This record gives sequence, C-alpha cells and structure tokens, in this order.
Amino acid sequence: MPILRNIGLLARCLPAGPQGEIHPIPRAALAWNEGVIRWIGSDRDIPSEYRDWPTDDAGGRLVIPGLVDSHTHLAFGGWRADEFEQRLRGRTYLEIATAGGGIGRTVAQTRATPTRELVGRCRGFLTEMARLGVTTVEAKSGYGLSVEEELRILEIYRDLSGGSQRLVPTLLAAHTIPTQFRANRDDYVRLVIEEIVPRAARGGLARFCDVFVEESAFTLAEGRAILGAGLAHGLRPKIHADQLSDGGGAALAAEVGAASADHLEYVSESGIGAMARAGVVAVSLPFATLYLGARPMPARRCIEAGVPVAVATDFNPGSAPSYHLPVAMTLACTLQRMTPAEVLKGATIIAARAIGLEEEVGSLEEGKSADFALIDADSVEQWLYHLRPNACVKAVARGREIASGPGSPSQ
Ligand code: NIG
Ligand code: FE
Repeated sequence: MPILRNIGLLARCLPAGPQGEIHPIPRAALAWNEGVIRWIGSDRDIPSEYRDWPTDDAGGRLVIPGLVDSHTHLAFGGWRADEFEQRLRGRTYLEIATAGGGIGRTVAQTRATPTRELVGRCRGFLTEMARLGVTTVEAKSGYGLSVEEELRILEIYRDLSGGSQRLVPTLLAAHTIPTQFRANRDDYVRLVIEEIVPRAARGGLARFCDVFVEESAFTLAEGRAILGAGLAHGLRPKIHADQLSDGGGAALAAEVGAASADHLEYVSESGIGAMARAGVVAVSLPFATLYLGARPMPARRCIEAGVPVAVATDFNPGSAPSYHLPVAMTLACTLQRMTPAEVLKGATIIAARAIGLEEEVGSLEEGKSADFALIDADSVEQWLYHLRPNACVKAVARGREIASGPGSPSQ
C-alpha cells in the first residue's frame, strides 16, 4: 500500500471533456493498494489515513496513466527488411504483396516458427514495451490463416496474458486470402465464418473480430459477413479500414457498431460522419503512414466531427516494424497535427475505449487499476517534443512495478 509523492504533474486523462483535456493536477500524490488506485489529489491534501503509508518519491516528474497500445500484430515469425528496401526503390506495398511478399510471406514464416520461439519473441517485445510505459497491449492473430494456426497464435496470447501487462486478443483470420484459397476465396470466407470464428469464441480466445477491408484483402460484403459472424459469437467488431484507398470501411464500422476503425488514411467525410454518429473510435497508426509513405489520417477532421482518435503502433513486420508507442505519439503530433495532450489521451483512455477496457484502465481515477508510468519530463509537451530513446523511468501495472530504469538522459 504505497503512496507516490512529489509528482510534478499528474495527468488523469478522464474520459470526460474534449480530447485535449487531460485533467492535470500539479504537485500531486497517488495512493494505491491491492492493485487499485485509492486516492489521487494534491500533495498538500493527503488524507490522514494515507500519511503513514510507505512513500515513494517521484522526483517532481510527470505521471501518466499506463500507456495502452490498442493495435498490434504481436506474434509473427521473421522480418521483411528487404521489402522495406524495395519500397524505398519505388515498389508499392500492393505490388510486393501480389508478387508473393507482404502478409502472405509472414504467414509462411510464422507457420514455420515453433510455438516456444514465438512465445519468446512476444515476451521480449512485451518487456521492451513495459520499459516504455506500456501497460496494456491489444494483440491480433492474422499470420496463421488456417484453423490450427490462428488458434495457435491466440493460444500463445492466452498463455502470455498471465504476465505483467494486460493483453487483449483479437481474431484477425481475415487478414488476407491465404495463397491456397486464391482461386476459391469464398471457401476461405466460409472457413472463417463457420470454423475459425466459432472455435476462437468458444475457447474464449478472442474478444474482438477484425477484418482487413481493402482491394488486396477482403471486400465490404465479405467483411460484413465475417464481422456479423463474430458478433453472433460475442466478438466485438474492429476494422482495418480505408488504409490504402477509400473502401467504405469507416461506414461499415459504423453500420456494425465496431469498437474502432483503424488506419483511415483515405477515410471520406461521410465515413467520418457515420463514425461520429455511431460512436466508433478512430485508431491512428502513424508508423504505417510513415513507412508506406501514405498521407496522414485526418485526425483534426475526426476530432472536430466528434470522433475520438486513439494512437497506436500497429507493430508488425511489414508496414510498422516498431513497438515504440512514444515515438508513434510524437509522429501523431507532427504528421496528424494533434497536440501532445490530445495524443496522450489517444494513447490512454481513448485507446482503452477502443479495446473495451475503459472501465479498468486508461485514466487515473480512484477505483481503477493502478496502472501508471513515471516520465522524466515536467510536462506532456516536453516529453513528446524532446524525442529520446526512453523517458520512462518506472512502469506500474495492477499496482506492481513491471519496469524501472534510469531512462535515457534528457540532456
Ligand atoms: O495493419 N493492413 C493490414 N495489416 C497490417 C500490415 C501487415 C503486414 O504488412 O504484415 C497493417 O498495416
Ligand atoms: Fe494492423
């Protein structure tokens, strides 16, 4: 039952208010026990019952809710650095995918990777993410694309979820049409609907069902059918929408009541309007924008229309080969013209909403999980402006320290 005192600035990031309202408390203190926040307020006003709790000193630093990475493709075999190089020479993501690279190639590499090795890689990534202050991670399947392989990836996530961070599993069997089904894609869609979705749901292996709606992947009609099957089995919809072209993915997200529509570089005005009316969160993925040389997603237009914008990494070996959420947050400022405060809310409470965990994590409030990060900066603006390898000096999840270190020097 510790109390953290001498916090220079504590950003509560409550769900209420505009995206840029982070509800700061200067010179704050934070008390928790049994993994739950018990009291937050000004250091001057600590109630007597907490005054003799063991004290930790924040050194005047910034405290934020534990970061939530609401979109990752965590489990995959191999890498695709050669495709990165080919794209720099002018080949497009779609050309590479059509010629046998892209997602299909990672599927082959993932299938060939033993479970023990995949688990070890995921653990390594999660440990590094914890050091950056990330306490909750959404993780998609999608590099298996058969009944056995999709379930194997989801089982890996289940086995990892006893670890330090919260892990939220998403079924993405509809990532692309596997090579052996190219001539009979309807058979694959049927397999997803009739076997993969029901088995993932029955086994309690996924909370969300995601679909990549794109020319090179699934049509709107296929996406609608797969997400409908997910809903019928209790899996909430998510969509990889309007990433490479305006395919109507945002409108479909609104139609099926998706928790989020992700990417959205090419979303239309009417798509944004539909998302606003349906309360769909827009998840921006600046690494994918940057690595594919796409235009930025219209974060300002979304926010003005009343669509909350989350910021996530999209960590995967193709379009976003980094799990560094704070760097993605700085890119959301520079590419998407979001303010640091808007971005912080986008990587905490709004991200939590995108993965259905807004009642548990994402903001610092009495009664919520004691998930927070101590950042070596005196303001959110200073933190996201001064790009450093790592400014996080401590991460706490469910009240337990999951990472600590000196951070990298700020000078
Ligand atoms: O979110 N858009 C589809 N899926 C990934 C890319 C996956 C890959 O290239 O391996 C994404 O960008
Ligand atoms: Fe993705």
